[in-house]
Amino acid sequence: MAADMLRALRERRSVRRYTAEPVAREQLLQLLEIAGWAPSAHNRQPWRFAVLQSQDVKQKLAAAMGDRLRVDRLADGDDPALVTQDTERSRARIVEAPAVIVVCMTVAEMDAYADDRRTAAEGMMAVQSTAMAVQNLLLAAHAGGLGACWMCAPMFCQDTVAAVLQLPASWQPQALITVGHPASNGKPALRRAAAEMVHWL
Ligand SMILES: Cc1cc2nc3c(=O)[nH]c(=O)nc-3n(C[C@H](O)[C@H](O)[C@H](O)COP(=O)(O)O)c2cc1C
Repeated sequence: MAADMLRALRERRSVRRYTAEPVAREQLLQLLEIAGWAPSAHNRQPWRFAVLQSQDVKQKLAAAMGDRLRVDRLADGDDPALVTQDTERSRARIVEAPAVIVVCMTVAEMDAYADDRRTAAEGMMAVQSTAMAVQNLLLAAHAGGLGACWMCAPMFCQDTVAAVLQLPASWQPQALITVGHPASNGKPALRRAAAEMVHWL
């Protein structure tokens, strides 16, 4: 059992291409349930999830995010043809995924402080907790034979995502997870050696 867990931790890869087979709602709920077993600061469980299966909603979200990306990239002075290509690739990934989970977080139930320093630390703890829930979700997908991939795009257009999905006011979009039955393996795994990352004292 422990060996299975270690193997899953090593073998999970980001999977970006899926078959057209839908993912059952019960299976998505199970992923979210496992996500919810992540540790969180004060056990406040600040993660929230918007689950998109409707093609119409996925298209609206992808279009709005794409418009925003285009504006930002053109303002950077990027080649318009390249911008169109990247925007289209991002749109296709969202629209073609059988399910999309927009992971949000709320600080509504975190501790409140009068000063900015501690308020920022508390907010960061909510972000850290939410990221742990996503890791659980990715591992649960892998364990269940599904593929999933984290997309960071919502971080760059949080207000757009919140408006299109009509999210509750306190929900801050953090990530978009595409989920489906794998059509291809992820890219080969590459990792730096643990010893490179350590400062021994
Ligand atoms: C915070 C975060 C943001 C990410 N954003 C993206 C993304 O926007 N697009 C993408 O294809 N993968 C994204 N990924 C997935 C990483 O590219 C991937 O985890 C990394 O390359 C290692 O590959 P592996 O997950 O297959 O081990 C993101 C991962 C994390 C943790």
